[in-house]
Amino acid sequence: DWTPAHFITDTVAALKQQIGDRQVIMALSGGVDSTVAATLIHKAIGDNLHGIFVDNGVLRKNEFEDVLETYKQLGLNVTGVNASQMFYNELKDNADPESKRKIIGRLFIEVFQQEAAKLENIELLGQGTIYPDVIESVSVHGPSVTIKSHHNVGGLPATMRMELVEPLRYLFKDEVRKVGRELGIPANLIDRHPFPGPGLAIRILGEVTEEKVRLLQEADHIYTNALKETGLYATVWQAGTILLPVKSVGVMGDERTYEFTVALRAVTSVDGMTADWAHLPYDFLADVSNEIINNVRGINRVVYDISSKPPATIEWE
Ligand code: XMP
Repeated sequence: DWTPAHFITDTVAALKQQIGDRQVIMALSGGVDSTVAATLIHKAIGDNLHGIFVDNGVLRKNEFEDVLETYKQLGLNVTGVNASQMFYNELKDNADPESKRKIIGRLFIEVFQQEAAKLENIELLGQGTIYPDVIESVSVHGPSVTIKSHHNVGGLPATMRMELVEPLRYLFKDEVRKVGRELGIPANLIDRHPFPGPGLAIRILGEVTEEKVRLLQEADHIYTNALKETGLYATVWQAGTILLPVKSVGVMGDERTYEFTVALRAVTSVDGMTADWAHLPYDFLADVSNEIINNVRGINRVVYDISSKPPATIEWE
């Protein structure tokens, strides 16, 4: 019988066996998978697990600080690296979605390798790979077609190809969440929506600038908080805010404004492969729209995305 408690006992024993006295390095993202994987490995080998959490400048508002604090509470040995400026510099003048993904993937590896080089005797690489990642990396990256370059699996270069430690490799997401709860990881982390590795960079259509990131972080913060406060957060698979590269006319008091539009996105889904737009209540959408327009200078229009996947995708880039 599969139970989270049995899985934890067996996995921790197997990890001790595999790792022994060796040191493990692991990139943490603040997401469910990497946090649960790291907590399991930490249970097996303690501070011989070295976590690296990178601020790439395109995380959600306050996310870097909040997540580091949670890691601390969990007792994980994690180094936080703020590399935002480096990412903004390279993202400048790049409007193409795949280029943005590549830049973020490449810089991330650079930062991670720099941190790895500071540590001694690292022999293994921990990863939060789950079963759907294993399957998707096969089906999405066919020999000639790349739909989107997801870089969760096998994203590290040949020079970093160390022996892997992947305690969640055969689990589905709901099982990962059950294990996480059993491990005592806080609910706000376990129940988090998926968030793409390239973060807000692919939710800012076109060129990414630090100013646009700030704008989107504010709007996204209002939307996410409202979803949580109303209990709607748990009813959707994923939600986010997209900054459109369009300015339109509005009016504020006696003034004419000419500012950006954000699109709110929320979908229901089982695995992200197909998705329906979530039928959020009109009153809720009205409140979020007002709160964003009244509080975020630079945004004067809010729209709601009513497209399903396929033929649309969840993200806009
Ligand atoms: P799409 O937009 O393809 O998204 O319908 C499906 C799921 O994948 C996430 N996604 C990404 N995750 N790196 C990631 O780690 C990426 O480049 C990426 N692109 C999309 C998306 O958020 C959704 O959950």
